[in-house]
Amino acid sequence: MTERNPDIAATSGWTPRDIRALVDVKTGTLDPRIYCDEELYRIELEQIFARSWLFLAHRSQIPKAGDFFTTYMGEDPVIVSRQKDGSVAAFLNQCRHRGMRLSRLDHGNAKYFTCSYHGWSYDSAGKLVNVPMEKNGYCSKLNKAEWGAVRVPRIAEYKGLIFGCWDAEAPELDAYLGDAKFYIDVMFDRSDAGTEVWGGVHKWVIPCNWKFAAEQFCSDMYHAPLSHMSAILAVLPDGVPPEAAQWPTEGLQWRSPNAGHGTGFHTPDDQGQLLAAIVGSSVAQYLMESRPRVAERLGNARTTAVNGAHMTIFPTCSFLPGINTLRVWHPRGPNEIEVWALAIVDADAPQDVKDTWGQGITRSFSPAGLFEQDDGENWIEVQRVLRGARARRQPFNMQMGLGNEKSDDRFPGPLSYVFSEAAARGLYTRWARMMAGESHAELARPHEGVS
Ligand code: FES
Ligand SMILES: [Fe+2]
Repeated sequence: MTERNPDIAATSGWTPRDIRALVDVKTGTLDPRIYCDEELYRIELEQIFARSWLFLAHRSQIPKAGDFFTTYMGEDPVIVSRQKDGSVAAFLNQCRHRGMRLSRLDHGNAKYFTCSYHGWSYDSAGKLVNVPMEKNGYCSKLNKAEWGAVRVPRIAEYKGLIFGCWDAEAPELDAYLGDAKFYIDVMFDRSDAGTEVWGGVHKWVIPCNWKFAAEQFCSDMYHAPLSHMSAILAVLPDGVPPEAAQWPTEGLQWRSPNAGHGTGFHTPDDQGQLLAAIVGSSVAQYLMESRPRVAERLGNARTTAVNGAHMTIFPTCSFLPGINTLRVWHPRGPNEIEVWALAIVDADAPQDVKDTWGQGITRSFSPAGLFEQDDGENWIEVQRVLRGARARRQPFNMQMGLGNEKSDDRFPGPLSYVFSEAAARGLYTRWARMMAGESHAELARPHEGVS
């Protein structure tokens, strides 16, 4: 076994063997210290966030040369910037002189980024181009070529989603996503025009570990009928009986064989009323009317048998096809996340549909979103409970659907019943394998024992 970062074992009490023991997929148990241990968090920043493909921005956020968007890769601030040749560059949002944040804007258009501390200037690709007092102060001896902002070496895009990765050994994004692409397309490949971001980015901080959020969007349809019941009843139009809020029971869950991605959805086509209540009836009608042309592109199964879906691309990019919220769970220590939520709409939808959609997404999934609050409340309370010395020693149960995977000709597998924790077992196995230091060549092998 290659130890990718041997100093982790040397500088923390956690050995790769200890870390692997935190996730036991054979018995379906999980050690809750993965959510609250400071040292594990420090290891995560190195082993997960510095080695995974991370969502940076949607293409529509930086359409023109010079457009930039500032975001994070784990806790590292980065600037994502559209270049003159149409390509995308990303680099650490950190001046090489004394480390000041180069840009404190959320987004904008700039030829240069000038540090507000002493004035070093970088171009839109991060190259250092101007240094005050270069001649007198540095005696013209400063080699500016060596002091550019640190570039993110790997940038790739899939259907408008721009990802970055620090690790030269990571597989290509396309291979990393694998069959996840089949499911991503449900939301992001409905037409040649693709999608765009509606409005800005909602950002808020909640005191919980990032894995609660990532896991829920990956694998947890189970919470929806109960946790969201009051929200569902609240959004049902007058005159619709409460029985209409009955949660469907049929559906499928998919987990990535080795990469930690996952999705779940209902196969019966009976969520129109609920979708109309959440995002607006004109949006539901638009989605219904666009079905024939979408079916030509994606086929019938993905047009009619993927309903009410949730999805996570490991580690922290999650979305809900149909409702169309997209979010990143930026980690901020073991006990806190910064949620960044974007509303995604079809780029070629009529403007009034886009606006209704964006407002519907905001009403349901945003800092004040009716459904969002249900989720955040659960994650925050679990995190609070884990402050207890005894509480953090009790293993969690993730046995739902253990050993019950199945196949369906319409969808790539491995598949299980929609109410299952197979994708969670996949996500935590990926987490444990990366945390234990497996190389990307090793990580390319399917998870053993996960079902
Ligand atoms: S820290 Fe940026 S110029 Fe000094
Ligand atoms: Fe939820």
